[in-house]
Amino acid sequence: MKLAGILVAATAVLAITASASFAQMADAKKGREIYVLKGCWGCHGYDGQGGVTGPKIAPEPMALESLIAFLRNADKTRMPPYDAKGLPDAEVGHIHAYLTSLPKPADWKTIPLLKQ
Ligand code: HEC
Repeated sequence: MKLAGILVAATAVLAITASASFAQMADAKKGREIYVLKGCWGCHGYDGQGGVTGPKIAPEPMALESLIAFLRNADKTRMPPYDAKGLPDAEVGHIHAYLTSLPKPADWKTIPLLKQ
């Protein structure tokens, strides 16, 4: 009984450490390189600002899990799907870190001209 409890606790700790280290490993600089290499910029712009073909995807991208699922299942007609072979989850993690790291636009309320 006691052993089972310890095992459960150990598994929980492992799960927490694993997700924490995955997040720490995500590197915005690497993410930009992968983003450029894989051609995301061609449709979404270098800073994820959106382009003629693709919508704006930064600076507040969808959650990492959703992004991974989205990339695996893109509809092919407008955006090519990226499988785990060509773009492993860890690399999507870097891309996500890059998109999240981009500066947020100023709140329009802080721009005097827009308040007139
Ligand atoms: C050929 C153009 C093209 C390329 C290359 C491309 N995308 Fe897209 N992407 C689109 C289009 C068009 C949509 C919107 C259509 C849709 O939702 O299926 C989209 C949608 C998305 C969305 C969802 C946006 C939202 O809020 O619904 C994300 C996130 C995204 N792309 C990320 C990426 C990433 C990361 C890459 C590179 C690995 C990439 N895209 C490469 C064209 C592209």
